Amino acid sequence: MNNIVSPSLLSCDFTNIENELNAFKDQKDLWLHLDIMDGHFVPNMTFGNPIIKQISEKTSIPLDAHFMVTNPEFYADSLSGIPLENFTFHLEATNNPLELIKKIKAHFKSAGVSIKPNTPFSAIPDDVKNEMNLLLIMSVEPGFGGQNFIESTFDKIKEADQYRKNNNLNFQIQIDGGVGENNATALREAGADNLVAGSFVFKGGPENYNANIKKLR
Ligand code: DX5
Ligand code: ZN
Repeated sequence: MNNIVSPSLLSCDFTNIENELNAFKDQKDLWLHLDIMDGHFVPNMTFGNPIIKQISEKTSIPLDAHFMVTNPEFYADSLSGIPLENFTFHLEATNNPLELIKKIKAHFKSAGVSIKPNTPFSAIPDDVKNEMNLLLIMSVEPGFGGQNFIESTFDKIKEADQYRKNNNLNFQIQIDGGVGENNATALREAGADNLVAGSFVFKGGPENYNANIKKLR
């Protein structure tokens, strides 16, 4: 069982990104979560390939890219030379998730599949469940940081955890949205391996980030 924390850069100070990245450099079991939004799959827009590339050149922390985009295939192809630890796409955004997972695995270490709050775990085809390295269960509607955690997420985590035990699978379960010290322990107990947190981690400036992460752990 993993115990990874993934600070979401969505809540960082983008005008001082190098300073923000450096705040995490001594942490173990930490990924940096990049939220890529295209203004189409979700209403909001963030950043794309040039910024992902620049971040990858400025840090050796594993990069966890969460693509909230209509055309994830484009990003899987065009980022192929960039060392991402994990590439997550939305099940709702593709007609051929299995083929996309194979493409991702050819270029990156780990392939993640995300489902929105109204998409049941059972919507993921069995062959996709067998191939994915990570399941990202959204615990808010994707698009914005700082939203309230949706409590029914717990049932989905338990269902996914039971499924992987029954089928001898070892995909990570990652939770994203409204995660903080009030629910982190319960999420771990339900079966979550990897907690994404934006507004909770980036509170109080860089000198407080590691203390915030400690509270999550
Ligand atoms: C939302 C993003 C999240 C977001 C989480 O669409 O996927 O990663 O940054 O932010 P908090 O932790 O503030 O809910
Ligand atoms: Zn995210």
